[in-house]
This record gives sequence, structure tokens and C-alpha cells, in this order.
Amino acid sequence: MVDYFNSRILLQPNEVPKEWINILPDLPSPMTPLVNPMDGKPAPPELAFAIFPKECVLQEVSQEPLIPIPNELREIYAKTYRPSPLHRALGLEKELGIEGDNIQIYYKNESYSPTGSHKPNTALAQAYYAKRDGLEELVTETGAGQWGSGLSFGCNLFGLNCTVYMVRASFIQKPGRKILMRAYDAEVHASPSRFTESGKMFFEKDPEHPGSLGIAISEAVEHSMRSDKIRYSLGSVVNFVLLHQTIVGQEAKIQLNKVGVKPDIVIGCMGGGSNFAGLMLPFARDKLHGILPDLEIIGVEPRACPSVCKGQYRWDFGDTSMKGPIAKMHTLGHTFIPSPIHAGGLRYHGIAPIVSILTNNKVMSATMHHQTEVIASGIRFAKCEGIIPAPETAHAVKETIDQALKAKENNEKKVILFNFSGHGYFDLLAYKEYMTGDLEDYELPAEDIEKALASPEMPNIDESQF
Ligand SMILES: Cc1ncc(COP(=O)(O)O)c(C=O)c1O
Repeated sequence: MVDYFNSRILLQPNEVPKEWINILPDLPSPMTPLVNPMDGKPAPPELAFAIFPKECVLQEVSQEPLIPIPNELREIYAKTYRPSPLHRALGLEKELGIEGDNIQIYYKNESYSPTGSHKPNTALAQAYYAKRDGLEELVTETGAGQWGSGLSFGCNLFGLNCTVYMVRASFIQKPGRKILMRAYDAEVHASPSRFTESGKMFFEKDPEHPGSLGIAISEAVEHSMRSDKIRYSLGSVVNFVLLHQTIVGQEAKIQLNKVGVKPDIVIGCMGGGSNFAGLMLPFARDKLHGILPDLEIIGVEPRACPSVCKGQYRWDFGDTSMKGPIAKMHTLGHTFIPSPIHAGGLRYHGIAPIVSILTNNKVMSATMHHQTEVIASGIRFAKCEGIIPAPETAHAVKETIDQALKAKENNEKKVILFNFSGHGYFDLLAYKEYMTGDLEDYELPAEDIEKALASPEMPNIDESQF
């Protein structure tokens, strides 16, 4: 029987998990290293120490299965927003005509954080380690603004300076995000800016240049090299970011245990892969250990940027400007410029190497949807559950609805868990365009992918040299 009084499954602040789950020792094939673009060889730790906080570099390659979350950081999580609620989506179940207990839908509500998404989970951890290392500033890029807001919030809590290079198109379109970051005392520059050599090259030719994530990354990395008290901060893709996000799946597991269920399907949207991995990795580990052998794990991409669904698994630059490390991952090619879909956080040419390895080994699968059907699902969700999902999150909502309806049609029993990675209150333009019929779908043509992957700028890495 459905118990309405227990449909929001809460944990007490003292139940913030004590450990992050490190999947590296359990991966079915070995982790691939990050490669130095200067010599095509695995980047030595000394190089990485100059870019990221030291503890994050050590976590990136750690083979310890469980990594303790420092107590002081657990306290900060507890003081601010963790543990986040797990909801039984009773409204959505009713809307889909699946009331009863045969098909159950749960969502982990990461929109509960002060900046509205899962991004602070790693931002707080990175700011904590930066402060502990005696650093004074973290610098980053942001596209749609969720990551920049998360890091600004984290730096403010730990008394660090924060500089954010925000892609100019978003800087203009999303003034709310800019104001939020400035409220946390971050310096926010429209990118390309006149404050770095990488930015100036574009800014001086065209002060209205709309910018790109690639240019913003170059500006942030260049800025971080100005002083040994500054480090660069990343919001997705790399192992240590995925590690910090496993707090989401750890909590969800405890919460599902409280109501005595185990998931059959785990779903999340994929940009760089961090919110999806954060929810699914603790469950994927159980699958690999034979505890949840039949668990289905599904990552959802936009049809306009289907890195895993349509990309190739190969070495590629993480950034468009070829300054950062090279990773082995599913990629559409770093020269690929995605169409301007509203899910800005999913417009990334690559994916976390961990997600690629799990895909190659069939531990998980990927699927893709068009933005109009995604935003329609977001509105459907808002009507019955109350929260407007971020356009990124609405991809997971759409897949959840499809999976629930499939189970209904086949008369199957299923427990579906998805990550509600963020709310969409700063992204209402997507919903407005849907309502006025102005929202367009973009399908990435196969020729465009082939062209980007055939670019002479694609790196040639000889693994036998490692
Ligand atoms: C709400 C939300 N969900 C998902 C994503 C995608 O990022 P990731 O794949 O790293 O979780 C973003 C990125 O900005 C986001 O803001």
C-alpha cells in the first residue's frame, strides 16, 4: 500500500554518508589516464598539482574502494543542504495511471541545494580542499551557470575568492545566474574577456563575441596559472568530481532501504556524466559485485549532442582550445559545436571516461531524446510533482516516463529511480518557447560527426608508449 505520509523519505543531517564510493578498483577494464597534450604521455601528478587542489589529484587515481568524507566537510553539507530528500513520485505515478505498488517511481531531489542543482556536492569538496591547501582562489568557466553558481557558493562558504568566466551568450541570456554568483562575491566575466590573453584574441576582434565553453576554459586555465595560490576547478567529467557526487547514490541507497525497496532501473541525464554517475555508481558497484545483477542503468543524452549514443570511443581533448588534458572517452570531436539547445549543461562533446568504460562493458546503456519531448515531459512533471525541472533534468524525466509506460504495457513490476539533478527556475525561456511553439528540435547529422572526428586536430595517442 502506498503510504503518503512516508512518500518523502528524509534522512537526518547526522546521516550524511561517511564515505564516497570509488569505482576505479571495481571497473571491469582498467581506467585510462589523463594525457599531457605537450608530449602525449600520461600527465604526471606534479603537472596536475599545479592545476587542481592536491587532494583532488590524489583522489583522481586512488585505488581505495571507499574514500572518507572529511568530518568538517560532512558538517558543512549538513549545515547547508544535505542529505537531500528522496521522493516517491506519487503525483507522476497517478498521472501515468500506475497507482499501486507494481511500478514505483522515486527521484533524488538535488534541486534542494541552495543553487538549485547537484553541482555544490563537488564545489564544496573542492573549496574545502583548496582552503586546506592554503590556496586563496578558485577559477572556473561556466556555460549555463549552474556550475559557476555552485562554485561561487562553495568558495564563499570557505572564504576563498572565486572567478568565473561565463560564456557571453549565457551571460546576456541568464542575468539571474550572474546576479546569484555575484551575491556570493564571485567575480564574473563575460567570456571572451579582455582579462586574459586567450580571451583578448577574440574580444579585440569582436567585443560582442558570443563565446564558447572552449574559450571560457582557456581563460580560466590561463587565469589559474597567474599565482600558485590559485587553482582551476572542474565541475564534471574527471574521476574526482564523479567521486564527490557519489554522496547522491549513497544517500539514495539508505533512503530506499528505509522503505524496503531496491531499484530495477536507475536513470540520469548526461552532460559530462557527473550527476548520473553520482547516483548510479554505488548501485553499479552492487551490480558488478553480483548484488543487483539485473539492474538496468540508463544515461540520457540530447539528440543534438549524443556523445555516447553516436560518438566514437577514442582519445580527445577535453576542451575546444586544446589546452587541457586528453582523455579516452566517447566523443563527438572537440571541434564539434553543438546546436543551441536549452539544456546547456548537456552540450559537451565528450563524457566522463568512467561512463565510457561502463558503457563499453555493458554495465550501463545510453539513450537520447529531442528537446521538445523533453520539455513537454518537464511540464507534465511540474503539473503533478510541483517542481519545474532544469532542461537537463527533464531528459531523465522523459526517459523515466517512457520506462514506466513500457513496464505498464508489459505488465511488469519495476522500481525506477532517477536523479532530479536541478530545478529550472533560471531556465524558463525553454518552457516559454515550448508554450509559444517556438522550440526547435535538432538532430545531429552523421556527416557532422564524421567531419568533426576526421579533423586533423584530433590527437594521435600511442598507448604503447605508456
Ligand atoms: C541541472 C543539471 N543537470 C545536469 C547537468 C549535466 O552535467 P553532468 O553530466 O556533469 O551532471 C548540468 C550541467 O550543467 C546541470 O546544470
